[in-house]
Amino acid sequence: MKVAVMGYGTIGSGVVEVLRINKEKIARRAGQEVDVKYILDLRDFPGDPMEDAIIHDYKTIVEDPEIGIVVETMGGVEPAYTFVKAMLEAGKSVATSNKNLVAAKGAELIAVAREHGVNFQFEASVGGGIPIIRPLNKCLTADEIEEITGILNGTTNYMLTKMADEGADFDEVLKDAQDKGYAEKDPTADIEGHDPCRKIAILTSLVCGKQVDFEDIHCEGITKITAADFLYAKKMDRSIKLLASSRQEGDSYSCMVAPFMLPTTHPLCNVNDVFNGIFVHGNVLGDAMFYGSGAGKLPTASAVVADIVDMVKHINTNIFIDWSSEKMELLDYKASQNAFFVRTTSSKAEVEAVFGNVSYVEAVVEGEMGFTTEKMTEADFEERSAKIAVVNRIRLA
Ligand code: HSE
Repeated sequence: MKVAVMGYGTIGSGVVEVLRINKEKIARRAGQEVDVKYILDLRDFPGDPMEDAIIHDYKTIVEDPEIGIVVETMGGVEPAYTFVKAMLEAGKSVATSNKNLVAAKGAELIAVAREHGVNFQFEASVGGGIPIIRPLNKCLTADEIEEITGILNGTTNYMLTKMADEGADFDEVLKDAQDKGYAEKDPTADIEGHDPCRKIAILTSLVCGKQVDFEDIHCEGITKITAADFLYAKKMDRSIKLLASSRQEGDSYSCMVAPFMLPTTHPLCNVNDVFNGIFVHGNVLGDAMFYGSGAGKLPTASAVVADIVDMVKHINTNIFIDWSSEKMELLDYKASQNAFFVRTTSSKAEVEAVFGNVSYVEAVVEGEMGFTTEKMTEADFEERSAKIAVVNRIRLA
């Protein structure tokens, strides 16, 4: 099998490396050798062992009948979408790690692949090296999946873990994450939660079989989390994690991305550093947890190459993926119920006049106090909290 790799960045070069490191094992499992014939990139790579495979025009791949499988590791929606669609229409299967592409165009590309008797697979787009897409498509098909809650972003999990362990503040840990290459120069997609938002949209689409638009999901990042919040969390025997969640309610789903305070006994509380953890609850399965390397060159490439192997084994067969372009109307997050931890400079009398009986948390910052509320709707909380002076508020899991 001759494959082409589009995008020779971190993940694309990882795919080439994995195909080299585990060449024989992969050939045995796929039933034939898998060789990289082309690497599409804007740049040249003088001195690179794959230098001769570098090309600059995607049509070279489209027009080469020897290429059966194409890997897309370019990132972004365009031109990845145009290139991937052209590959599928030319009868080539595609494996991608690109969550932006899958979240925006997944349903359409799955349909194009089906029409042309090929496959479009995207295991690496959520959870890096952790198997979660294939388990949802193939292993948990007996279930009604009622909940998925995950730590789906390695960069912010690294930052929050460091804040918890070292008492460091946000700016300090962001700089450290950038120095270590975890966070990008423009870290917006990670720290504002856009990355896990796309990932939970993809998982929810797979669970319900319809198009879940990430734009419809309420999304808060971690930029407002401070060292003081972690001091309060410690007093409460909790930590703070960025959770992406999706809950079935009747015929629809309630989805959200936001920081939550988790009790230390919560299974996701011990998912630390750049690791990801995904909790799944099915109506007949009960609970399952998926844990592992959620980002990074080789873990993500491992998932892409596993897609290649699967597609080699199904070269003339479309593997059905239940994800149509019919839109799933999500429930308004304002109707969802949450309990909150609140930091305020208002008095106890003012707090109790608005929230009734609350549980106070020992203050760690002079001139303010902390308290936790009962569960209430997001709309109710918003209305009540506007009546007191709020320093910060974090939902409780
Ligand atoms: N920036 C992402 C993360 C990469 O930190 O999880 C993997 O999607």
